[in-house]
Amino acid sequence: MSKHLITSALPYINGVKHLGNLVGSLLPADVTARFFRQQGDEVLFICATDEHGTPAELAALEKGQDVETFCNEQYEIQKDIYERFGLSFDHFGRTSRPQNEELTQHMCEVLSENGYITERTVKQVYSAKDGRFLPDRYVEGTCPFCGYERARGDQCENCTHLLDPTDLLNPHSAISGSTDLEIRDSKHLFLQLPKLSEEVSKWVLEKKNIWSPLVYSIANKWLKEGLQERCITRDLQWGIPVNRAGFEGKVFYVWFDAPIGYISATKEWSDIDPANRDWQDWWYDAEDVIYTEFMAKDNIPFHTVTFPACLIGSKEPWKKVDQLKGFNWLTYYGGKFSTSQKRGVFTDQALDEFPADYWRYWLMANAPESSDSSFTFVSFANAINKDLNDTLGNFINRVTKINLKNFGEEIPAIGSFTQAEVDLGSRLNKLINSYTENLNKLSFRKALGDLRSIWVEGNNYVAVTEPWKVVKTDKDRAATILCISFNLMRIFAILSYPIIPTSSEKILLSLGIKTSNPGWIKGDIEKELSFFKGGESFIPLDPLFNKITPERIEELTSKYGKEEE
Ligand code: 2FM
Ligand code: ZN
Repeated sequence: MSKHLITSALPYINGVKHLGNLVGSLLPADVTARFFRQQGDEVLFICATDEHGTPAELAALEKGQDVETFCNEQYEIQKDIYERFGLSFDHFGRTSRPQNEELTQHMCEVLSENGYITERTVKQVYSAKDGRFLPDRYVEGTCPFCGYERARGDQCENCTHLLDPTDLLNPHSAISGSTDLEIRDSKHLFLQLPKLSEEVSKWVLEKKNIWSPLVYSIANKWLKEGLQERCITRDLQWGIPVNRAGFEGKVFYVWFDAPIGYISATKEWSDIDPANRDWQDWWYDAEDVIYTEFMAKDNIPFHTVTFPACLIGSKEPWKKVDQLKGFNWLTYYGGKFSTSQKRGVFTDQALDEFPADYWRYWLMANAPESSDSSFTFVSFANAINKDLNDTLGNFINRVTKINLKNFGEEIPAIGSFTQAEVDLGSRLNKLINSYTENLNKLSFRKALGDLRSIWVEGNNYVAVTEPWKVVKTDKDRAATILCISFNLMRIFAILSYPIIPTSSEKILLSLGIKTSNPGWIKGDIEKELSFFKGGESFIPLDPLFNKITPERIEELTSKYGKEEE
């Protein structure tokens, strides 16, 4: 039994996330957590809201709320949405909780004791009009690397370059729009990344054949460019206070405390039931743990270089990431999903339109793995109609109907296998092996292709064996075909559970199987195809999926828009 620690990049608290955020970290992490649990592995799946820094302050400002009230409200909103999407976190915490403050301050202390943190007075952007310093996203302007005109002071979202507010060309305040900005002195703490560069490079090199080319190349590019010291404090009110004389009124930079949030959210989990849970088992001297992180590509530098550098610099035995799954961008009709411009479909809206499983299926089948992928309502409707409705849904409806007509609400008795069942078994074996391997490798698009092919086997089997005809001449043989078909339904439900858990649960319940972990289909396929032997009763299901009509697509595109402005 393996021990899997799984984390999804922590979503910013600054508002409801869009579908791109969901597929770029939260959802694939959930699919993986479910899959490993189904293998019988021990899994701890941790996430939290990332609540500090300028994103939170700016969003609260826009809503006219104080930051704490804003964060409390938004935490509940996001938590509720993720529950409705079926995200099976073992714990969903908050970086604003005391556990994170304690651990962040501890990290700073040990890094400092080990000589990796220094104090320095630096020039900061100050806005006379706003009467305050303007760190990070409080300044906007043109990216000096790619010329993108809406770059923010912490990072250019166009070319992913990390920036300093003073780097921006034509800067203005994100609060008031004022261009009356001056540069003032302020004392800050700096993480000495150059001193850690050799050790980090050695560690990254070990991952060369483990991480995907996307992840490894981003990490390597960063290291090759040469690591710069990074300022880890800010002139802000909201955040984790810096415990040090002369730093009153300053807080840690959000990217310093956010990844520490993975550990502190695990501590939150363990503090709920300390007699039975120990966060240190997962993070401290935890060589037996396999740690997998999920994130979009803009997060990769922080997770492959900066955060590991902190853990290495602490000289404490913290667990570092083993596998890191990075995603490209999901686009909305080829353009950017944008929180600030409210462009695209947001997770709360998505659930108002369709059940979570529809989204889970489309997003995983089209995950932006090797390149960006584009969301369109036509593509969404095609997948739901063709794969969920015409393939999986149709198989279940068809079998149920034929059975009700001829054998009622009871699964009929299985007889001996013919060549059709032997062939079915061998094709399924191959497909299930490939599906399992692809999920193990976190190759989601390929895995979903396998799952689709597995469902197709059900329809093909019924089409070839024609139980509705056979029943007229050979009732026992028809009984066998239908019994095998009910066994296929169980197999499909188990294998589909990581992707479409609600629908899978419904199928299993209709077959009299009530479980929070249905296990996996391993080994002897003949045994799995005869799990039900006949005589078991079932509850006929209402259709699991509904088709999305062209009129509905029209309505959705005019509601959410499709043209880039
Ligand atoms: O990019 C983001 O959405 C960040 N909130 C991710 C943080 S991940 C971790 F380091 F906390
Ligand atoms: Zn840029």
